[in-house]
Amino acid sequence: MLSPASAAVVGATLPVVRAHAAEITGEFYSSMFAAHPELLRVFNQGNQADGRQQLALAAAVVAFAGQLLDPAAPPFDPIAERIAHKHVSLGIRAEQYPVVGHHLLTAVGTVLGDAVTPAVAAAWQEVYWLLACRLIAAEARLYERGDVDPADVWRRWRVAKRLDEAVDTVSFTLVPDDGGLVPDFRPGQYVSVAVDLPDGRHQPRQYSLSQGPGRGSLRITVRRVPGGAVSGFLHDRVTEDETLLLGPPAGDTALDRGTGPVLLASAGIGITPMAAMLDDLARTRPTRPVVLAHADRSPAHHALRRECAHTATGLANVRELRWYEHDHDERSRPGRMNVGALPLTPDTTAYLCGPLPFMHELRDGLIRRGLPVERIHYEVFGPGML
Ligand SMILES: Cc1cc2nc3c(=O)[nH]c(=O)nc-3n(C[C@H](O)[C@H](O)[C@H](O)COP(=O)(O)OP(=O)(O)OC[C@H]3O[C@@H](n4cnc5c(N)ncnc54)[C@H](O)[C@@H]3O)c2cc1C
Ligand code: HEM
Repeated sequence: MLSPASAAVVGATLPVVRAHAAEITGEFYSSMFAAHPELLRVFNQGNQADGRQQLALAAAVVAFAGQLLDPAAPPFDPIAERIAHKHVSLGIRAEQYPVVGHHLLTAVGTVLGDAVTPAVAAAWQEVYWLLACRLIAAEARLYERGDVDPADVWRRWRVAKRLDEAVDTVSFTLVPDDGGLVPDFRPGQYVSVAVDLPDGRHQPRQYSLSQGPGRGSLRITVRRVPGGAVSGFLHDRVTEDETLLLGPPAGDTALDRGTGPVLLASAGIGITPMAAMLDDLARTRPTRPVVLAHADRSPAHHALRRECAHTATGLANVRELRWYEHDHDERSRPGRMNVGALPLTPDTTAYLCGPLPFMHELRDGLIRRGLPVERIHYEVFGPGML
């Protein structure tokens, strides 16, 4: 809890911090990378370039401060969970928090200038460390649960199989190259993949595991992003028998272990976590009612289409719905996914993955149709949340 003196100061300065949050985090990243260029290899430079990571960090700090001041504010737990999982997938360690704290608090001073009196600086330092302690504890639990040493998260994996799945989409099936075991994970989780790019940069990206656990390998399915550094590298340079560096499986959007009906709704490459959930459902809960809904540009773009249709045959109670913007056939509908056409029951649990506008529209539509927000789970293929 925030001390009463700091609570008053944070309450008085929160509006100005909120108003300048993106500027503060922008300043924070440039000063931190100038002082610690080694951190450039840990952060996704694509997310830095378009400002999304700055916004996600700013939004998280402001939401946490808001929660400290007003327990009736939206809960911070889901945000903390998402951040902790992302950090664990990248091997972020407790001893890095003072560096981030130093540059973040210095950036507050740089942007807000004279408004930052010693009392203001001390109050925001307290906020930072309350948040840091919470994340460090959550991350320690995840490292322990996964039996992962945070100082040594990166393992080398060999590409046992490379398969073209759809237009601009390739799957890589990976087996440990270090003789170790394939870690357990929950369907819906992802791994960070780190590569050495031809321009000399070392860069990580996250990729959802696209098949369920217990198969003796991990598989990722990657769509080429135009101008994208890592997806382009994986497509152009990584062939069978090459090796890749992978972090531990992580991610807070994972299939629940219940028995009630499930909606798996995806668009585009958002099919990947759904394919893993479907695979796991067919193997471990084949009687669970499932609706598998997917929207794509065309059948040729629909990755894992045949595999998912085949997996669905292993389920006792499944409905498959497809929407294609082009080339739709007798088994699909034209255009974009229509939330009104999704078969739902009051006890459905929904999992969504796809572009942000798709997920906003779908989530709003599901809420309108009576699904409680806590039973709508989603994965964002970038920083931040809906
Ligand atoms: C949890 C999670 C799971 C994911 N799962 C999958 C998955 O299963 N399959 C999958 O294919 N993807 C997945 N992604 C997305 C993936 O992590 C990458 O974001 C994606 O592959 C693009 O990375 P890239 O390096 O190719 O592109 P980047 O180089 O990061 O570029 C992304 C975009 O930014 C633009 N850009 C880059 N640098 C600049 C610059 N300097 N100035 C202006 N614009 C710039 C690029 O042109 C491009 O449009 C997932 C992401 C997350 C967070
Ligand atoms: C209280 C302190 C911190 C907060 C509030 C914080 C917040 C965040 C947030 C909101 C994200 C985006 C999560 C998402 O994907 O939605 C993130 C990602 C990340 N954080 Fe932190 N973080 C903190 C400390 C640290 C530290 C100490 C490091 C170590 C260097 C770090 C490194 C990263 C990296 C590398 C990413 C992924 C960035 C990307 O993919 O672009 N963070 N963090």
